[in-house]
Amino acid sequence: MEKNIESYLIEKRVFKAPRSFARTARIPSRAVYERLYRESIRQPEKFWAREARELVWQAPWKRVLEWKAPFAKWFIGGRLNISENCLDRHLTTARRNKAAIIWEGEPGDRRTLTYQQLHREVCRFANVLKRNKIRKGHRVIIYMPTIPEAAIAMLACARIGAVHSVVFGGFSADSIRDRIADSGAVAVVTADGGYRRGAVVPLKKNVDDALTGETSIKRVIVFRRTASDIHMEEGRDVWWHRELEYVNADCPAAPLESEHPLYILYTSGSTGKPKGILHTTGGYLVGAYCTTKYVFDLRDEDVYWCTADVGWVTGHSYVVYGPLANGATTLMYEGAPDWPEPDRFWRIIEDYGVSVLYTAPTAIRAFIRWGDAWVRKHDLTSLRLLGTVGEPINPEAWMWYHEKIGGGRCPIVDTWWQTETGAIMISPLPGATATKPGSATLPFFGIDAAVVDEQGEEVGPNVGGKLVIRRPWPSMLRTIYGDKTRYKKQYWSEFKGSYLTGDGARRDHDGYFWIVGRIDDVLNVAGHRLGTSEIESALVSHKHVAEAAVVGRPDEMKGQGVVAFVTLKENVTASPSLKEELRKHVSTHIGAIAKPDEVRFAEALPKTRSGKIMRRLLKEIASGRTVTGDTTTLEDFNVLARLSRGEE
Ligand code: WT7
Repeated sequence: MEKNIESYLIEKRVFKAPRSFARTARIPSRAVYERLYRESIRQPEKFWAREARELVWQAPWKRVLEWKAPFAKWFIGGRLNISENCLDRHLTTARRNKAAIIWEGEPGDRRTLTYQQLHREVCRFANVLKRNKIRKGHRVIIYMPTIPEAAIAMLACARIGAVHSVVFGGFSADSIRDRIADSGAVAVVTADGGYRRGAVVPLKKNVDDALTGETSIKRVIVFRRTASDIHMEEGRDVWWHRELEYVNADCPAAPLESEHPLYILYTSGSTGKPKGILHTTGGYLVGAYCTTKYVFDLRDEDVYWCTADVGWVTGHSYVVYGPLANGATTLMYEGAPDWPEPDRFWRIIEDYGVSVLYTAPTAIRAFIRWGDAWVRKHDLTSLRLLGTVGEPINPEAWMWYHEKIGGGRCPIVDTWWQTETGAIMISPLPGATATKPGSATLPFFGIDAAVVDEQGEEVGPNVGGKLVIRRPWPSMLRTIYGDKTRYKKQYWSEFKGSYLTGDGARRDHDGYFWIVGRIDDVLNVAGHRLGTSEIESALVSHKHVAEAAVVGRPDEMKGQGVVAFVTLKENVTASPSLKEELRKHVSTHIGAIAKPDEVRFAEALPKTRSGKIMRRLLKEIASGRTVTGDTTTLEDFNVLARLSRGEE
């Protein structure tokens, strides 16, 4: 039998939900959370149905759930349209003239669309799709910068029942080609280009390259963003603005079955071939809507900013669908956080009075590295709530976020979820949950999360194991597109009836969840199974360290040795004595068992484009092998070459 994952780094700091926040919060105390959570687990269908009734249904559902494991159907018999829920229903209220989207482009151009304006643009573009013979059920690739038209294209697809698959604008022609082939898409919506660090990303050129040879694509609709010189293929390519001349703004929302597919999103895949995660209409909307409502506790006066690109699931659930279904104002920013200077985010917060900020630990660590002076230049007092997603947040990065960005007054919601889960699964509720730096805290309503051992038995407090979800939830993936077998095998085969997340975790004495990283990354050192995130957090707690990635390499004595790749803060010099100091630092913080056998300084770490460290590649480098396998999601290819050469 394999041993459980061991945990050594015990975080003792606790931050109570601020009283001022709790006073107005939807869930104002831990006691209220507990009561609702218990109810939601005892009668999940009752809980989800109550939430679903807050949305607009064109026909009521007959049954809340049909569960033929591992295949779920939610709100069977119900008909609805997501774009109607995100747009039309706000038009009969004061929200009609409220900003739905506030957008800033990287060059500094700005646009605001009210709900009325956004509704009109979505209807017109939906008619453009129809005019171009795109029908219900057809797959449409959206390959765009983070501009309002990306959201308009998504909502227009949803309006007519076409299935969108957004491909992140940083991906290459090959990635687009693979996704077209896998999804069998008939159309691409793109732009001539987008801005990134002052340069133009040649989006249309990448699409052209992806469409050479056999393809299922019949139509490419091009939005003019950069006015760069591009090729337009006669008979295949049309301009967005030209097409609008032929349509009116009258486009009723199609009444779709609850289980009608909404989108396919290919996972960033830090390992293996990308999977097309399929989400459907009713359940997904209920999940995105209700988590946004409770976790961000949005008010009408909020300016809510989720910094994710629309190409990731976070961009789907928490830039577009969740906030708009709640009638919120969602801010979108097109470009890089350090353009033209590393204070771009703080300037945006000051300029627009952003009150809720949702970003990623990788971004937070970059800000720490760039230095506090950039933050101090700006007034951030409009912020009232902070959030993170994407990776475990190192307690030191959490503290920095809390103090430097949140001014010590804003709760932080560390939200754990996945592309597959569609919506937040484990997270504090800001008025109810006391937070601990580094913990995603407690499960959301209706989510039966547990940590289990190799036999599938739930483990006791502070024992590490596998994180599973023991029952279906509305926003869960329905399948891997075109591959039911892989869906079953990957997520549902290990423990009967439970969804396998692939993450390792432990729960502490308060029932709080601590995610220790992907199971595949767990180390086995002299018979002890160690999660990577604790060792990394110990390193990041050293004053000179900006970021760290820990991997194992084969070791004759111990089974695996610990190798730490470390990037230092700006203006810190690398030296052999600093390496020694860092090894000791880990030893004192966690224990000799976790002491790195080797510390390597690196200029940068290999990351996926969504900011996750690609430990698989580091493992190969650490064991002296050449890097093999899929590197298409790698952000900066030069990083690999530099790391393999051992340059510092
Ligand atoms: C994986 C899912 C969900 C949106 C972005 C990522 C890791 C995500 C947290 C968190 C610790 C986290 C997990 C998970 N992860 N959020 N708050 N704490 N780990 O979506 O690309 O599908 O990645 O990201 O390992 O399994 P994704």
